[in-house]
Amino acid sequence: MARKKIALIGSGMIGGTLAHLAAKKEMGDIVLFDIAEGMPQGKALDLSQCGPVEGFDAKITGSNDYADIAGADVVIVTAGVPRKPGMSRDDLLGINLKVMKAVGEGIKNNAPDAFVICITNPLDAMVWALREFSGLPHNKVVGMAGVLDSARFATFLAWEFECSVKDVNAFVLGGHGDTMVPVKSYTTINGIPVDDYAKIKGVSASRIDEIVDRTRKGGGEIVGLLGNGSAYYAPATSAISMAEAYLGDQKRILPCASYVEGKYGLDGLYVGVPTVIGAGGTEEVIEIELSDEEKGNLKVSTDAVEELLEACKGLDSDLA
Ligand code: LMR
Repeated sequence: MARKKIALIGSGMIGGTLAHLAAKKEMGDIVLFDIAEGMPQGKALDLSQCGPVEGFDAKITGSNDYADIAGADVVIVTAGVPRKPGMSRDDLLGINLKVMKAVGEGIKNNAPDAFVICITNPLDAMVWALREFSGLPHNKVVGMAGVLDSARFATFLAWEFECSVKDVNAFVLGGHGDTMVPVKSYTTINGIPVDDYAKIKGVSASRIDEIVDRTRKGGGEIVGLLGNGSAYYAPATSAISMAEAYLGDQKRILPCASYVEGKYGLDGLYVGVPTVIGAGGTEEVIEIELSDEEKGNLKVSTDAVEELLEACKGLDSDLA
């Protein structure tokens, strides 16, 4: 059987980390694409030289030509500009929308059968725009954010409870912005609802609220600390888990920015929802029961995403 092909559009910090993870896991051969000449080639050479040490055979190449992503099974898009301290993800809308147009056309012309995972911010708007520009079916284009946001929530809860992260099943829905919705009613510590476990461990409700708030602002916290750039290890790891779910037809239920039509009262929007990922791409959006408060919070979040889509339509007539 031929090896799978993974194309990484954008060879910055997330792109390089994605390539390293994909190679270590022998997920397939990897093409690192970037418009910056020399950079993807240099990273590909450096990463290839990990092979003898780590024992992987994955072939890693760098390219500035979209033709080299031809036949990719999975395309992961990180191209675009990260935010700087003090900026919101939404401030990147104008600049990254132009990038999504070029990337969408590159995918349409060269890898129309791929499963495409978008990471570029502002995520929910960019994955929508990328889908529009590429013309791929909605089930083959998805955004990575919920896995990352849920991982942040799980990390902070595990620290607070001094328990293993393996026992925390955290759940975050909605847009990948400060209005995202960490859903406590579906967050458990090995099956024990988080609020019940907090009582058992003597952790106050206000402390859990602080953790929810820290989760919402988790990306900004890292942007502030790094000073130049945004998170890359956890975003790359999260996207790789989605790519593995697709390539392995795992039917995992992962929170991701999927196209939602009809469910959650939404009509054609990309936003973070639990999604079954298998060989068919995003095979099913799972609609869960939410409390009135959670529904209200989700509405605030999806309204914010809708506003961004309107802004995209105003900026590019092809989207109107
Ligand atoms: C993240 O959450 O780490 C990314 O969306 C990057 C950012 O700007 O926060």
